[in-house]
Amino acid sequence: MGASGTTFVLAVLAATVLNSAVLCSGGSTSSFVRKDEKSGDMPLDSDVFNVPPGHNAPQQVHITQGDHIGKAVIVSWVTVEEPGSNTVLYWAENSGHKHKAKGKVTKYKFYNYTSGYIHHCTIRNLEYDTKYYYEVGIGHTTRTFWFTTPPEVGPDVPYTFGLIGDLGQTYDSNSTLTHYEQNPTKGQTVLFVGDLSYADNYPNHDNVRWDTWARFVERSVAYQPWIWTAGNHELDYAPEIGETKPFKPFTHRYHVPFKSSNSTSPLWYSIKRASAYVIVLSSYSAYGKYTPQYKWLEQELPKVNRSETPWLIVLLHSPWYNSNHYHYMEGESMRVMFEPWFVKYKVDVVFAGHVHAYERSHRVSNIAYNVVNGICTPVNDLSAPVYITIGDGGNIEGLANNMTVPQPEYSAFREASFGHATFDIKNRTHAYYGWHRNQDGYAVQADTMWFSNRYWNPIDDSTSAQS
Ligand SMILES: [Fe+2]
Repeated sequence: MGASGTTFVLAVLAATVLNSAVLCSGGSTSSFVRKDEKSGDMPLDSDVFNVPPGHNAPQQVHITQGDHIGKAVIVSWVTVEEPGSNTVLYWAENSGHKHKAKGKVTKYKFYNYTSGYIHHCTIRNLEYDTKYYYEVGIGHTTRTFWFTTPPEVGPDVPYTFGLIGDLGQTYDSNSTLTHYEQNPTKGQTVLFVGDLSYADNYPNHDNVRWDTWARFVERSVAYQPWIWTAGNHELDYAPEIGETKPFKPFTHRYHVPFKSSNSTSPLWYSIKRASAYVIVLSSYSAYGKYTPQYKWLEQELPKVNRSETPWLIVLLHSPWYNSNHYHYMEGESMRVMFEPWFVKYKVDVVFAGHVHAYERSHRVSNIAYNVVNGICTPVNDLSAPVYITIGDGGNIEGLANNMTVPQPEYSAFREASFGHATFDIKNRTHAYYGWHRNQDGYAVQADTMWFSNRYWNPIDDSTSAQS
């Protein structure tokens, strides 16, 4: 063996020692072997994009929470041939009495695309914990769907959230949605962490792909609310074709109840649902000191009453703790601005997307640094949230499988696979979290954690993680 050969062997040995050290000291990087190729978008004639039959039939039906406390629902749909009625007919199960709510219709143009007639109607004063049927398309072709309102807000109300991010409309996206639907842990509401349709991947941001995406997910979102967070693919900022109003398609199509949490923008707001207080933030709106989002969050966090809603959940798109080279450090400036508040107010968990892989952190913070003191390493902090990146919905851009090495201490588990998660609140102290990868059977959980509430039971729960 020559000198270079010896050097090579030494290098391999050193790498092996380094690797075992990494495995001992940090979290785990999954060795799961999966197919590497990305799947393309489903073609326009796919059955999941089918237009419902009948004259002016309502399509792209979706619902979200319509107030701050879960007694209202925003029903949205699109008609194509003519505006038609914007009335929603709705009735409680076991009740013959039909109610009417009147909505509004809007439309928009984007370069050479003109949208259909987009209807939004808020149904208010619903009873808690009740199944309702609703009918849209009155006067033309009607379609009927149903949803169940959440239980009354309270500290020990069990409730199950689904987590999906960066979904897109590929074959993998369809697999993710199917796995969420077939998961034996039944999600009651989806917390969606941004990047919906990826229409902007098409020439001139072909907004037809906003329509196809909404038809694709209707099978879930017409029956249970999805809580919307804006991602970078919602920006649709395209000055080269004269489109300079950010978030134009997204804000026309997806209405959220931002005014009921005193927000001045649909891009950041909060809701209470069962025993959870959910705060939605915008990674792509100003968040520096004195900005509207900063001032809103500053006033919002002290309002959270953990005796009423023990579980404080934050949704945002660009993750703060991400050990993947993909989008590395993009969330850093927002972390610098808001992380001290998250620790002060004991946020339980932060869900983000953007990175097309899965990662869960230990409870860590990195708030001691003040530029001159050099204290810039994340430390264990039992008042800090767990950070979960769940941007693995399966969109056309493929997986983010180029992770930083060694795995940082703060990272508990990471894997580049598509999937979704559920956050299953049991009572004020415990919630069971599970991540599902699409290659497994519907019931298989590839990463789990028992969450201990930061206000009621702030023990070190990250040690209970199994992976
Ligand atoms: Fe993104």
